[in-house]
Amino acid sequence: MTNRLLDGPPLDFGAEPYAQHRRRLGPLPSAAGLLEALESSGLRGRGGAGFPVAAKWLSIAERAGGPAVVIANGSEGEPLSHKDRLLMSTRPHLVLDGALLAAAALRADRVFIVVAEDLARAPAVMAAALAERPEAEQEALRLVVAPARYVAGESSAIVNLVESGTAVPTYVPPRPHVKGVGRAPTLVQNVESLAQVALLARRPASFPALLATLHAAGSGPVVRELEPSTLLGQALEGVGGSLSQTRAVLLGGYFGTWIDGSEAWELPLDPRALRELGHSFGCGVVAALPVGACGVCETSRVLRYLAEESSAQCGPCFYGLRALAGACERVSANQAEPGELQRLQRWAQEVRGRGACRHPDGASGFLLSALRVFGSDFAGHRTHGRGGLG
Ligand SMILES: Cc1cc2nc3c(=O)[nH]c(=O)nc-3n(C[C@H](O)[C@H](O)[C@H](O)COP(=O)(O)O)c2cc1C
Ligand code: SF4
Repeated sequence: MTNRLLDGPPLDFGAEPYAQHRRRLGPLPSAAGLLEALESSGLRGRGGAGFPVAAKWLSIAERAGGPAVVIANGSEGEPLSHKDRLLMSTRPHLVLDGALLAAAALRADRVFIVVAEDLARAPAVMAAALAERPEAEQEALRLVVAPARYVAGESSAIVNLVESGTAVPTYVPPRPHVKGVGRAPTLVQNVESLAQVALLARRPASFPALLATLHAAGSGPVVRELEPSTLLGQALEGVGGSLSQTRAVLLGGYFGTWIDGSEAWELPLDPRALRELGHSFGCGVVAALPVGACGVCETSRVLRYLAEESSAQCGPCFYGLRALAGACERVSANQAEPGELQRLQRWAQEVRGRGACRHPDGASGFLLSALRVFGSDFAGHRTHGRGGLG
């Protein structure tokens, strides 16, 4: 059986009220046996990195000392992703159930729901949902509004936001699951991951459907809940896309990878199968670049965005991403200097692993995939083409 997050009232009704959520799914279940259920489900995080949920929970559950802290990450800083805002705006109580279950399983006494300020109705809906919960639950829950910046959703930035109001990544270890808010072990978990936990706790033997933000060539984002067996091509065709209009697909958002259109069309959405083929579903973005669009120009635009979003604390990230964006822009403007492509390859490798967070690694993986998929455009760049992502 598949667990579907968007079952329930039609999405255009807005947020499902608490009373209806309880009637439909019953009260908050016990967290007994949840860790084991998570382990056997193989559920992985839906915020981007795809880390196994059970492994993170176990490392917190096994620590000695005082109570832990749970943070639901509703930052959704990825410009091409819309799934988290849709989930929070329509099924807020699934997110709250998941966060409260995590708190029960990990003996946490505080639960922070972090929502980015720019996510349409999501911050107001989550605030109203919190106020609907029983008083005992409300005592543990706090809403924190995050700034709309790409790196504000990184886990140590989220911890810093909760502690000090400043959402920048921390320069030094340890990571939040070891020492986070108030030096307590802190679980930072994407809101979709937590909503999946809320359903899994009720139906441990079922497997999760996946939320994906689909961008067919030349049209806007549509969020769909899909079976893992769906092919990327089927998913895009379901929102009006076609292979003949698709030059390439960006899978996983700005930290993701470009894949040639015809190769992408046959790939399964299943994160495990994708990993085996060397790809990542990341935060669930599937975005088509139209035929006729220029891969170099689109890659330059995204790289410049990522360079501007650096928190400017680590040299290789701040200077390295600017240098990469500059070189890519020179290629795009047909002003490449001798050896520019070799430099792009080398610099993209050199910034990896050299930041306090994985921002430069994400940008590097994105660029390296562009050099593979748009190799001939980079080598003989002529025109700007027409159209772009999203
Ligand atoms: C620069 C950067 C930005 C990130 N932004 C987000 C975000 O907006 N939302 C999110 O859930 N995770 C984001 N992450 C991933 C988080 O650090 C963290 O891994 C995630 O929230 C853990 O939840 P998950 O295991 O359920 O995916 C970001 C990571 C990096 C390096
Ligand atoms: S790697 Fe970049 S985004 Fe991350 S902390 Fe360093 S400067 Fe900030």
